[in-house]
Amino acid sequence: MTRTLIEIKDLTKVYGTGKIAVHALRGVNAIVEEGEFVAVMGPSGSGKSTLMNILGCLDRPTDGTYILDDEDVSKLSKDELAGARNRKIGFVFQSYNLLPRLTAVKNVMLPMLYNSENGKSNEEQYKHAVEALETVGLGERINHRPNELSGGQQQRVAIARALINHPSIILADEPTGNLDTRSAEEIMQLLHKLHDQGGTIVMVTHELDIAEHAERVIYLRDGQVISDKLHASGIVDLHNGDNGKE
Ligand SMILES: Nc1ncnc2c1ncn2[C@@H]1O[C@H](COP(=O)(O)OP(=O)(O)O)[C@@H](O)[C@H]1O
Ligand SMILES: [Mg+2]
Repeated sequence: MTRTLIEIKDLTKVYGTGKIAVHALRGVNAIVEEGEFVAVMGPSGSGKSTLMNILGCLDRPTDGTYILDDEDVSKLSKDELAGARNRKIGFVFQSYNLLPRLTAVKNVMLPMLYNSENGKSNEEQYKHAVEALETVGLGERINHRPNELSGGQQQRVAIARALINHPSIILADEPTGNLDTRSAEEIMQLLHKLHDQGGTIVMVTHELDIAEHAERVIYLRDGQVISDKLHASGIVDLHNGDNGKE
């Protein structure tokens, strides 16, 4: 039995107005079920980051609906949106977005500070953050600052931070984009582990070998979904399916 975590309908995003308006998303529809591992691909400028920012409650659509974990978040105020983000989303950025002056463990603790309902004492929060760093293989580096860590290690700190509030979904926008092949592979192994443990992951990438780690690939072009396919064994078309396999 599956549960729908993300449902977007006719999602549009327009930046600016009048002559300089950019139609970044032009009616995107998609459903993501709990436990899926989805890659979003498409050329530069096709709207991948715009879509991820909306899915991650970092931005609002111009039009259309977004149901996240049974809650309509398309019309929330900025503050409400931030609340939904904190409760439900773990976001991983290409450039890690760690605070440079804070140690790894303090960076990981940050989302808990913004989530006062977690009922944890300071000491418990610290312990929880250390455990999260152990999960991503950085138990020995908890007091390092970002500039004392490699890119791959910084991204693992960012993933620990993304996981700390037990999000319903992990969103990653080109999480391996700044990494060498070996570190990228390590990050992918980590995402696999999270997926095997039941995590739901939506990841943007423009690299085919990275996308191949996912079970399903959504292609965007010019702000529209041009294909949405499972690519486990043979290609099965999901939503425009005419090959009658399911
Ligand atoms: N903040 C913004 N203001 C104006 N235009 C933007 C903004 N962000 C993105 N765009 C435009 O929207 C389109 C989609 O961008 P983006 O979602 O970043 O694509 P991708 O991540 O696929 O490269 C592009 O034409 C881009 O220039
Ligand atoms: Mg992008």
